[in-house]
This record gives sequence, structure tokens and C-alpha cells, in this order.
Amino acid sequence: MPLVKSFLPILKNCGLLFILSVSVIDLHAQNFDLIPKPVALERTNGNFKVDDQLSVYINKMNLEDHAVLLKAGLGLSNASIKLSNDSQTRDNGIYLSIDKQKANIHKDYYQIDITEDQIILIGASKSSLLLAVNRLVQLNLLQENRDLLPAISLIDYPRFDYRGLHIDVSRHFFPVPFLEKMIDMMAIYQLNTFHWHLTDGPGWRLEIKEYPLLTQKAAFRTHGVWKDWWDSSRQYMHEGDPQAYGGYYTQEEAAALVEYAGKRGITIIPEIEIPGHSEEVLAFYPELSCSGKPYTQSEFCLGNEKTFEFLENVLAEVIEIFPSEYIHIGGDEASKKAWSTCKKCQRRIDEEGLDDEEELQSYGIRRIEEFLSSKGRKLLGWDEILEGGLAPGATVMSWRGENGGIASAKAGHEVIMTPGAYCYFDKYQTNPATQPLAIGGYLPIDKVYSYDPVPQVLTKEEGKLIKGVQANVWTEYISSQEHAEYMIFPRLLALAEVAWIAPEEKEWNDFFKRLQSHYRLLQLKGINYYRPIAEVTIKSVADTIKQASLVSISAERYGADIRYTLDGTDPDKDSKIYNGPFYEKGIKEIKAAIVLSDEEMGPVNSKELVYHLGVGSEVKYLQGYSQKYAAQGDKTLVNGMLGNFTYSDGQWQGFEGKDLDVEIRLNEPEMISDVKVPFMQIIGPGVFLPSELAVSWSLDGREFSEPKIVTHNISESNPDLIIYVFEIPVGEKIQYLRVHGKNKKRAFLFADEVVFYGE
Ligand code: ACM
Repeated sequence: MPLVKSFLPILKNCGLLFILSVSVIDLHAQNFDLIPKPVALERTNGNFKVDDQLSVYINKMNLEDHAVLLKAGLGLSNASIKLSNDSQTRDNGIYLSIDKQKANIHKDYYQIDITEDQIILIGASKSSLLLAVNRLVQLNLLQENRDLLPAISLIDYPRFDYRGLHIDVSRHFFPVPFLEKMIDMMAIYQLNTFHWHLTDGPGWRLEIKEYPLLTQKAAFRTHGVWKDWWDSSRQYMHEGDPQAYGGYYTQEEAAALVEYAGKRGITIIPEIEIPGHSEEVLAFYPELSCSGKPYTQSEFCLGNEKTFEFLENVLAEVIEIFPSEYIHIGGDEASKKAWSTCKKCQRRIDEEGLDDEEELQSYGIRRIEEFLSSKGRKLLGWDEILEGGLAPGATVMSWRGENGGIASAKAGHEVIMTPGAYCYFDKYQTNPATQPLAIGGYLPIDKVYSYDPVPQVLTKEEGKLIKGVQANVWTEYISSQEHAEYMIFPRLLALAEVAWIAPEEKEWNDFFKRLQSHYRLLQLKGINYYRPIAEVTIKSVADTIKQASLVSISAERYGADIRYTLDGTDPDKDSKIYNGPFYEKGIKEIKAAIVLSDEEMGPVNSKELVYHLGVGSEVKYLQGYSQKYAAQGDKTLVNGMLGNFTYSDGQWQGFEGKDLDVEIRLNEPEMISDVKVPFMQIIGPGVFLPSELAVSWSLDGREFSEPKIVTHNISESNPDLIIYVFEIPVGEKIQYLRVHGKNKKRAFLFADEVVFYGE
């Protein structure tokens, strides 16, 4: 924006109010901080004046919905919509047209040209023209003076066909206006698929005429907050019961939402969960479970023909409401236990020549896939549908990491990437200590931004099967619309850019800067977004060549003045300024904070830099670590890096049902004063501290000292996330150390680093 850059210093220095009042309006009108970043954007001089006297011209009558959307988006209630003649001399106004030739560039190609007199939107198709309309609306919302649109020339098209947001309306029921609001926001950010998680144990949410109990009963439960219900006996109630919580969408409401979304360029994919997560159905149609009794299991009996009759009847109604090509059938987390002792299921296994219950699940999914396919639809399911063999036309949504997606793409199936580590918006987005309770984990916006949905291990051809990416909003710990918005925004903006542009075009600092302009937009739209807190994040990476920690500090507040100390004192505005990553040797504490004002600092965060004497030692595991939580493998416990508050950050090593039992051999004999070992406790997912730590040492590796036993007094029922550091005084020259942490509960232990302190 050279115009602004060259003018601003003059304005700042001249101090003449009349100049400010004339010029600043124009300058401020020019905000180009579009998210996602467009493929090409050229800024030209001048502004287009947006006013109600304008006409919106369309070159075909079937573009009227586009014009209506554009009028609403720009706040032009009186503008008239006219049919344009392509050859006519163009009047002042906004022109919408389709030019199919442009599909040669990209099937979703569009362009926007704004001059002082006209706005011209051209799309290669009706859907890409909708993207153009939504883009123009965003550009308008970004302007401080919305009566002026800056002159630009923009060319755009997406990287991925599928750009999704999923919302779980079963664990928390959201009314239609909230979903419309989310669909509006998706459209503004060029997303195109809303995955509607309509059924799950905590409540069925879609009217099915053939099975009225699904909405009269299975849609209502005893507790509003999922956790309260989950911790109770998980009963359902009748619609109208005074204590009943829940709700459902009538077919009419669902169809209206499909239409609403369609007009904005959003496809709605319904999810009907099978064969698991279905206890709400089986409570009222118990004949479809193996036991024949309600409240006994979550999985449909796959040996029973009645199950397939039910599912096909339900899906037949679903298909009538939802025109989407994909129909999501869940498929995740089904327990196969009931099937293993069910006569009908076992008979099915025999008759169909199936190997086991996994293949039985696959058999069920295949039948549903055949049914959907006979109706011209495609089956989409969570990655468990791979187990026991993937149905021929199935598309996989990879959520348990990327492996399911990789295997599916290698087998020639289409894939939507939505791995937990990058796409689960139910995780914490900053330090959990400052946040409302969430499911766990840690997914800050820069991590969402860093995601590339096409795994490196795929060939170019396989990579083309990755159709897109999606954010998932599960609502176990979200029980209000405000809280849902808080978890979705602004992280969804990062996902929108991941879905839109090539990885080599992504640049965090540039996105971070553009993001600043969007808080205003989110405020205008009444979104209760997560406000960037005043904390800093300190990262340290051990550099074994420099034998030091490489320290970097970031702030959530853009352009913050970060100060730090290394002497244990709290930083103030005169402490060392952070200008970029730096190296520090040895063990020391770094403390950092941002300067809020002359008088006030943000909260102080600290981190131990631990380039200690044991870094790079050899570790012998006397009992193995969990392969799922291997972190950095054999070197994790002595890699010179401490983890943060999530055990999946690659620094915490997990021990499942086993003790931590290791022997560490230092590269050289060393005088060691103390050893410290941090462990994590977070009881929700079953992570506990060891009941005791026994530590012994040796100089020669043969004769070991008597073990020193250290315990703790942290309660096993403390619900907080606790990082407890076991400290063991040594005071000797040693080369070998044995550490044995008892996993008394046979659940998970998570250890971070065995830190060796020298004299
Ligand atoms: C899932 O998160 N269970 C798909």
C-alpha cells in the first residue's frame, strides 16, 4: 500500500487537523487485509462509492440470488437488480456475470475489478461467482468507512475443493439462527462445507418421520451440560418433560437451512452416526441392539436385518432433505464387544465368511455404501471405516492423525484431513490456566495455520486425493453459543487460509498482521471471539552443535514489546528487549512479559532452559514407553527440552500401564548435585503422577547406590493439570542413573526430561 506508507509520516508530522479530517478517511478506506490471502491482488488508486442508488447488473436471470446476497452484504437495501446486456456501455454500478471460459484457468476461478465507477465480478461458475460476492462483502466489512470500496484487481481460486467446519449439535443443541450465523461467517471466509453432526449418544437431532421416538425421546436428556449428563446414569426424557434438555430440527427447518447455506455457497453434509455412538437410538429401538434391551450398548447389532432396514429408512429421508453428494455415516469409535458375544452378529460373520468383528463393521459400512451409491450419493466416514477393509466408493475423514488419510489416499480413495493435532477446535487455544474448561490439548492459532493437509509422504498423484480440510467443533465442554464462537474464532480464519492457498504462499507473520484487521469485522458480526491475551509463549529448542538452547518468545498481541530476564527477577519495561531468537547455555530460568503501558506489564511467564549435563546421553528402557506417546523416542528424556501443558507436544513421553524404568548413561562421568524429573497429572484422560520415584546411581555402571525414594502429596482426584517436579539430591560424581517411577494406577505416566544439575 505505497500510498498509505508515503502519506502517513507527513500526516503524523504536520499535525494539522483539517488535513487529517480530509485525507485519513480515504486512506482508512483502504484495507486489503483479506483472509484467506487471495491468489493475486493488485491495488489501484481510488475508491468506489457504495450507495443505495446503485444498480446491480446480472447477465443471466439465474444470478438474482447472487445479486440479493451482494446487496444484503453491502447494506444496499434500495439498489435495483437489472439484467445487463454484455455489449451495452457500462453505467456506474456493480456487474455480476459468469464466464465459463475462465474454468480453463481453474474450475473455481473468479475475479473482482473495482474502479471508481464500477465493480465487476466474474466467476467461472455460479458457485465461484458466489465466492466472489462473499469476497467483496469481506472487503467491504474490512473498511473503516464502509461507504467506500478501494479500487483493486483481484484474481482468485482455492487450493482445495472441500473447506469445512463441523459442529456437534448432539452434545449441545444449537438453534437454527446460530447455525445461520456460522454459515454467514463461513461464507465470508470462503469456506464451503458445513458438516452437521446430527446424531450421537447425547441426543438425536433430526426429525425422521418413520421413527418419531428419535425426536420425541432420543432428542431430550436429563442434563443440559453434557458432562453432568455423562457423569449421571445418562437417561433420556420425553419432549415436554419439565426437566428435559435438548431439541431437534424439523425436516422443514433442516431443508430451510440447506437452502440458506446453498445461497451462500455452503453445502451441508449431514452426519448420521453408525454403527457406534448410537445409544440414544437403541434406548428407544432396543430391538436394533444385540441385547435387545435399552441402555445396554452404543452399537447397532450388525447381525440383524432390522438394523439395515432402519438405517436405510432413515437415510432415505435424510437424502430427501440434503442434496449433498456426500452423506457422512460416522463410523468412529464403535466398540466391537457386544458383537463378539452376539449370536446374530456371529452368524453374520460365519455366513459372510468374515474374519472378525472388524470385518463385520466393514460389512455394515459396505452395505450402507451400496445403498447410498444406489441413490447417487457418496459415503463419507471417520477413519475407523478403514478397519476391516474400506468400502469401494468411500471417502475417509482422517481424524486420528493423518495415517488413516494417508492409507486411504494410497488405496485410491478421496480424503478429508481433519487431524486432532491441527483441526480440533475443542482444544485449548492458550494456557489452560487462563481458559474455560476444554477437552484438553493445545491448539493455538499459529499451529492451525502451520498445517499442510497434504502429507509429504504422498506422491503427487496420491496428494490430489486429499480433497480438503476441516475444523471440528465437538461440544462436550461447550454449552453455549458464546462459548462455541469463542472456540471457533479466530482459529477458523487460520483454517480458511490453510484451505485456500498453496503452502509456499503461507507466511505466519503476514497472516498475523492481516488478522488484526479482522477483529473489527468479528465485532461487527457480533462474534464472541477469543481475545488475544497478554501472555507470552517461550519456546526453547536444544541445539546440540552449539550446545545451547535456542530461545524464542512470541506474544499473542500483535507488535507487542516483549521484555525478558535471565536472573530470576520479573521483567519490567526496562528489561532486555526481545528482538528475535537467541542462544543460552546451561540451565537457567527465563522470564518474559509484554509491556502494556508505562506502569503495567502483562503476566510474567517463565521457562527453564535446560541444556544440562545429561543432554544426548544414552537411555536404556527397562520397560518400554507407549508407541502412541513416544515423543522423540529414546532421546526424549534427555533431549534438553521441556514440554508445555499438553502431553502431546512431543516432549512428554508416555508409559501406558507400565512403569517408567530407565537407566541413563552420561557421555562422561560428571559431578551431579541434583536430578529433577517433571511428571504430568491430568486425571480426565487417565494421566497420574508416579506414586513414588526410586533413583539410584553409579560411577562404573555395576555398583549402584541404595535407591533414594521420593514421593509426593498430590491427590489422585485433583482435577487440575499439574506438572510436578520430583527432586533428588545426588552430590556425587556419577555416570549412570536409574530412575524408576511406579505406575501404581496402571494408567498413564507422562515424563518430560531427566535434568542433571552440575555442582
Ligand atoms: C471423533 O472425533 N470421534 C471423530
